[in-house]
Amino acid sequence: MKYFITTPIFYANAKLHIAHVYTAVIADVLARFHRQKGDDVFFLTGMDEHGNKVYKKAQEAGKTPQDFCDQIFQATEKTWKSLGISYAKFIRTTNEEHEKGVQFILQKLYQKGNIYQKDYKGLYCEGCEKFLTRKELVDGKCPEHNQKPVLVKEKNYFFKLGDYLPAVKEKIEKRDLLIEPEARKNEVLQILSQGLEDFSVSRESVKWGITLPFDKKQTIYVWVDALANYITALGYGAKSGDQALFNKYWPADLHLVGKDILKFHAIYWPAILLALDLPLPKKIYAHGFMTISGKKMSKTVGNIIDPDSLVQKWGSDAVRYLLLSQIPLGKDGDISLEKMQARYEADLANDLGNLLQRILVMLKKYEIKPVAGSFDFDEKKFTDRMNKLEINGALEMINKLITDGNEYLEKRKPWELAKKDPRETEKVLNNLYSRLTLASSLLKPFMPKISEEISRQLKTLDPKPMFTKFIL
Ligand code: MSP
Repeated sequence: MKYFITTPIFYANAKLHIAHVYTAVIADVLARFHRQKGDDVFFLTGMDEHGNKVYKKAQEAGKTPQDFCDQIFQATEKTWKSLGISYAKFIRTTNEEHEKGVQFILQKLYQKGNIYQKDYKGLYCEGCEKFLTRKELVDGKCPEHNQKPVLVKEKNYFFKLGDYLPAVKEKIEKRDLLIEPEARKNEVLQILSQGLEDFSVSRESVKWGITLPFDKKQTIYVWVDALANYITALGYGAKSGDQALFNKYWPADLHLVGKDILKFHAIYWPAILLALDLPLPKKIYAHGFMTISGKKMSKTVGNIIDPDSLVQKWGSDAVRYLLLSQIPLGKDGDISLEKMQARYEADLANDLGNLLQRILVMLKKYEIKPVAGSFDFDEKKFTDRMNKLEINGALEMINKLITDGNEYLEKRKPWELAKKDPRETEKVLNNLYSRLTLASSLLKPFMPKISEEISRQLKTLDPKPMFTKFIL
């Protein structure tokens, strides 16, 4: 089966932090899990490079916007590589193919009569890259970015959102378009029942963007430009006419997003797709926020942690594991280096690392050639959890597999048993060996390098400690 999974494309206004890495790691775990199952996976990620937010940062840095984006892109690519983010494509919205694709989309919507022009006055938050209503402000500021929106008065082109809202609502209610978790779906339905204003698809005053094909004085609104990436990346609207990837992989099986951008994905994006006569994504999953001392980690707040520093501390696979285990998927979760260190020592160094070393040392010492042993594990339940995106529940099952192994080892004490019952010793160690073989395979999407090293050690009976970096 094909499986098309996407991350949001990240703003190129600064180097990415670990909350962004969190999104990418979840997507990567799912992509790897589906590959392991034999699915034909296309994993898309990328960068959102247009708009005033990026433009201003480039100016502050004394660079052209393109040079600035190139620099952020290089850093991101390096971070993604170091964390093993196994994407099939990294799209940049300044790519020519994307720009042409977006222009094609806008032209099509215009020709179909989905777009009209009007003078507009509104309060624009550059942090969110969207207009806010007065109701949404707290003390006159955007609550998300704690900054005052700017008053924008210009001629814009608008998309007739209202024409598509009933159909979007119906698709969600009928579960043709799944929005998860359930509470988020209810939020979206609530917004839909209140009604929404049409949204502008172009900006007059923003210069760093894609030119609107039917009015060259305007640029395409950065969110429309960004959402389109999910199809332009597959060649939709491509100049070359090559839509093979689009035909093969669209609709997306999963758009993974943070809860702050759910409205764009669950309402605006499906409406645009319906207007284009295209099928809707199958599922949109909104995860929660990574917080530090209760505050959302963000560049604007300034409470960010650099992923590269964590990779140096614990190694990339452990960072992947630790980020996932700090936050129950779908909920907000507070993270701290201390908690991550404690988890590193408990789960990885002690439970997993020690069990592996002890088993390997004993197998060698007693000259046992391991064969399949037995133990209890509900693999179907594990797969169900992964399919339902209950990633933390799935990880708990792997942890239990390992902690139960440690308990069994302590109970059966093969080092004592070896003196009186070699056959029983062999049985106990084989059971543990098989348990670790399964653990290593289940851990593969989460910690690919560590899983490979565990498998190598199990095959060669060559114990080598893996979790040694205790530096906080
Ligand atoms: N460029 C838009 C997305 C366009 S997708 C068509 C954007 N970019 S972003 O860089 O601001 O955010 C990218 C993703 O990172 C979003 O899913 C966002 O929710 C996520 N996170 C940013 N900070 C976060 C936390 N503190 N915690 C968890 N994820 C958060 O939005």
